[in-house]
Amino acid sequence: TWTTGNVIDEQVASIREMVGNKRAICGLSGGVDSAVAAALVQKAIGKQLTCVYVDHGLMRKGETEQVEKDFVAATGVELKVVDAEERFLNALKGVSDPEEKRKIIGREFIRVFEQAQAEIVAEAPGDQPVEFLVQGTLYPDVVESGGGTGTANIKSHHNVGGLPEDLEFKLIEPLRQLFKDEVRMVGQELGLPEEIVQRQPFPGPGLGIRIVGEVTKERLDLLREADAIAREELTAAGQDSQIWQCPVVLLADVRSVGVQGDGRTYGHPIVLRPVSSEDAMTADWSRLPYEVLEKISTRITNEVRDVNRVVLDVTSKPPGTIEWE
Ligand code: XMP
Repeated sequence: TWTTGNVIDEQVASIREMVGNKRAICGLSGGVDSAVAAALVQKAIGKQLTCVYVDHGLMRKGETEQVEKDFVAATGVELKVVDAEERFLNALKGVSDPEEKRKIIGREFIRVFEQAQAEIVAEAPGDQPVEFLVQGTLYPDVVESGGGTGTANIKSHHNVGGLPEDLEFKLIEPLRQLFKDEVRMVGQELGLPEEIVQRQPFPGPGLGIRIVGEVTKERLDLLREADAIAREELTAAGQDSQIWQCPVVLLADVRSVGVQGDGRTYGHPIVLRPVSSEDAMTADWSRLPYEVLEKISTRITNEVRDVNRVVLDVTSKPPGTIEWE
């Protein structure tokens, strides 16, 4: 019979056997999958695992702290945090094209990851080699990417949770047979905090693909504020379990006229994109209660500088994808 306890026991045993006395690394993205995969491997091989968290500056508010504090507190894992904000922002300078952004972010991520890996080896040269890479691949990922089903490649997905494809590692993928809800149950059983286990999906390229236009630090800060308000109000209204996720998008290249405080403003719109979905392959726009939308809209326009309009995306997928880029 399927129980989370059985899954954990089986995986722990097979990971131990596979890794032996070698070492492994795991990229953490702050997302559920990489967190649960890391916790599971950590349970199996303890200090032989080092987690790497690349802070690319495209994270949401509180995300880095969550990984640094909550995840480490819950698992006791060895964590290496790399501050790569400047590097990513430099690489993204002047770039507005979505695919180009995704490629740049993916490329920079691999570079930073390689550097971190070399540092880990250099820091403990006498130790066993780092031979394994942990990936939070789920069953739907396996199905989607396998077997030439002819699915059009709509976007270059970068699972920044750890997908340096051209790195030479043996893979550990302890979640390969599980669906998202099962992964959450396993994470819970492993003692991960609720805020990590129940997190909604968030794209690897982060807020970089939620700014329509060039990505700058100033725009990221603005979007971070708006996103934090939306998340806070959705949580307060008990909507987290009702929706699949709610991207908050900054239309940085668009301005509209508004009237705020003492007079006319010329600011940017923020788009709310709440969706309901089973697997993100298709989605419907969520019918959020008007009161919740009103609260979010009022707070964002009051509290976020340079934003004078909040609009709601009422497009299903297809034709619209969940993310705007
Ligand atoms: P789309 O926009 O293609 O998104 O309808 C489907 C789901 O995938 C997430 N997403 C990503 N996840 N790396 C990820 O790990 C990515 O590059 C990426 N792009 C989109 C998106 O948030 C949604 O849940």
